[in-house]
Amino acid sequence: MFIKKAVSIKPSEITPKEIYQQRRQFLKTSINTGLGLAATGLLATHTADVFAGYGLKTLKHVKNTKYTVDDDLTEYKDVTTYNNFYEFGTSKSSPAATAHKLNTTPWSIKVEGHVEKPATYHLEDLMNEQTLEERIYRLRCVERWSMVIPWLGFPLSELIKKVKPTSKAKYVEFSTLYRPEEMQGQRRGVLDWPYVEGLRMDEAMNPLAFLAVGLYGEVLPNQNGAPIRLVVPWKYGFKSIKSIVTIRFTEQQPVSSWTRAAPREYGFYSNVNPNVDHPRWSQRRERRIGEFLKRKTLMFNGYADEVAHLYAGMDLKKYF
Ligand code: MTE
Repeated sequence: MFIKKAVSIKPSEITPKEIYQQRRQFLKTSINTGLGLAATGLLATHTADVFAGYGLKTLKHVKNTKYTVDDDLTEYKDVTTYNNFYEFGTSKSSPAATAHKLNTTPWSIKVEGHVEKPATYHLEDLMNEQTLEERIYRLRCVERWSMVIPWLGFPLSELIKKVKPTSKAKYVEFSTLYRPEEMQGQRRGVLDWPYVEGLRMDEAMNPLAFLAVGLYGEVLPNQNGAPIRLVVPWKYGFKSIKSIVTIRFTEQQPVSSWTRAAPREYGFYSNVNPNVDHPRWSQRRERRIGEFLKRKTLMFNGYADEVAHLYAGMDLKKYF
């Protein structure tokens, strides 16, 4: 993630004026995380000057109060302008400036490998079958910054159950779209395109693993991985692959793009772990975007209760 220098952005590539104007239409939102927790006195009220959307299509959804955090939400403008999406360049600002070139309709996902129902699924059909949920998750990047985002989507396990993996399926491999005409970062060999990521089957089936199609009540902005991306909140952000077009069920552990690029630095598991340093920096602390002081990084990004059992007995220094 620190491989190439930031690209310079041409004036012609900056965000269109209308979008800035919409951003200035400031909406102050108080997002309640729901009545379920109110009864227990744990109601977390996320009051922040957080949402001034691009006016993208809104998505009907329900709030899933089981999946929330007490932390303040990261402002929408930060969530959508400080991005890692190397298909659109290596600087944090280039995805917001150039991702509008990506055409996300129509969109389909090819499901292949060890499944009973391999097929190409149209995104609209998949979405129509699901009740979209809002879940507030932390996302911790390997680069030591983090955000708190209200995602909209559905559990990855729902899709997996639908396609019926066979007993040979031990892992799930995801690939991003390869379309260099629209994703100019792919014209350079920064990574081995298309971007690939993977999960072990039980990780993929864990209730936290989420396929997001929106954030802050609206469809995903392109720079955040439109129209569909993974969110795996207990792992470093690079596992949360964007703009997915292929899901393959495999017997062998997939080799992710980052592992291929730098195997000593980016392992298959990539669980957020303050006790295992990245070879070039410590992972003990992080900067929450929008905050000044650093905070301690939590084991499994604070999701230990939900996922620690997946790694029981494993040496997490070896399986980093
Ligand atoms: N997915 C693809 N296809 N390409 C990328 O470069 N970057 C990853 C991940 N998913 C990336 C990707 C990294 S390093 C992070 S931290 C998160 O996306 C960032 O997600 P965000 O920009 O929505 O915060």
